[in-house]
Amino acid sequence: MAKYQEGALILSHEMIAPALRKLVLYAPQMATTATAGQFIHLAVGDDSHLLRRPLSIADADSSRKTLTIIYKIAGKGTKQLATRQKGESIDCMGPLGQAFTLQGEHPLLVGGGIGIAPLLLLAKSLCPRPSEVLMGGRSAEDMIWPALFESICEKLHVTTDDGTAGVKGVNVELLPDLLSKGKFDMIYTCGPKPMMAAVAQLAKEFHIPCQVSLEEYMACGIGACLSCTCAKTNGGRAKICTEGPVFWSTEVFD
Ligand SMILES: Cc1cc2nc3c(=O)[nH]c(=O)nc-3n(C[C@H](O)[C@H](O)[C@H](O)COP(=O)(O)OP(=O)(O)OC[C@H]3O[C@@H](n4cnc5c(N)ncnc54)[C@H](O)[C@@H]3O)c2cc1C
Ligand code: FES
Repeated sequence: MAKYQEGALILSHEMIAPALRKLVLYAPQMATTATAGQFIHLAVGDDSHLLRRPLSIADADSSRKTLTIIYKIAGKGTKQLATRQKGESIDCMGPLGQAFTLQGEHPLLVGGGIGIAPLLLLAKSLCPRPSEVLMGGRSAEDMIWPALFESICEKLHVTTDDGTAGVKGVNVELLPDLLSKGKFDMIYTCGPKPMMAAVAQLAKEFHIPCQVSLEEYMACGIGACLSCTCAKTNGGRAKICTEGPVFWSTEVFD
């Protein structure tokens, strides 16, 4: 699969919640080849001691030649990224990694926290399939997602830990009831690892194929350094940057 390194022009960079930023990049080569589930590896600033940071592609518009990234300020790298201004250029590598396999007629997308970001391009790519999205977050303040998904999905289910938006609790608590309706033939999930493990377990119980998008610290992003490996259920190991980040749940969860 083609991957590029290009200086992407920042078209906009806005705060969408206190710790969340939306970055729109003009990146002609990457925008025309990116598919849902892939990520870019971004040089966040001028500090050459800082490694690149991997961020999922939340949207790719091949006509406008733009990529959209939605990220959470987590530490030093993303804090530095948040200082970058409209009109500046950012060194990006991508699109990297294995994408989601688009399959099934009635998909269910399950996202938690910032893991909801890559599900946005996925939901768009699955159209016109009638997809439903189950999304969970901490509170209404972080729950910026429904407005972004409502025009591309059939139905949204929202939970927050504190009950300030949607149903109070965690998203996987709603899953047995949703799956028992027998409607869904594919599950896609991205978010905290314990959440994805619970989704994978329920997918197994309900005999529904499931794809998971894993996260790990990454250095090179292109399969050369082994910093991002994860255990596979067959006893082997996989590089998340090149063999993932998307896997079938049975490959990585028992
Ligand atoms: C394939 C992939 C796609 C990603 N997509 C997104 C995205 O779309 N939006 C987004 O906000 N974040 C995403 N991330 C996570 C993002 O890369 C990290 O939050 C970022 O690199 C943190 O860098 P930092 O220097 O700000 O924080 P650091 O100072 O490095 O770490 C701050 C905190 O974040 C945790 N952390 C750092 N890196 C990771 C990681 N790779 N996985 C899990 N926890 C981590 C650390 O344990 C620490 O608690 C993705 C990660 C991967 C591997
Ligand atoms: S980040 Fe170097 S092998 Fe994956």
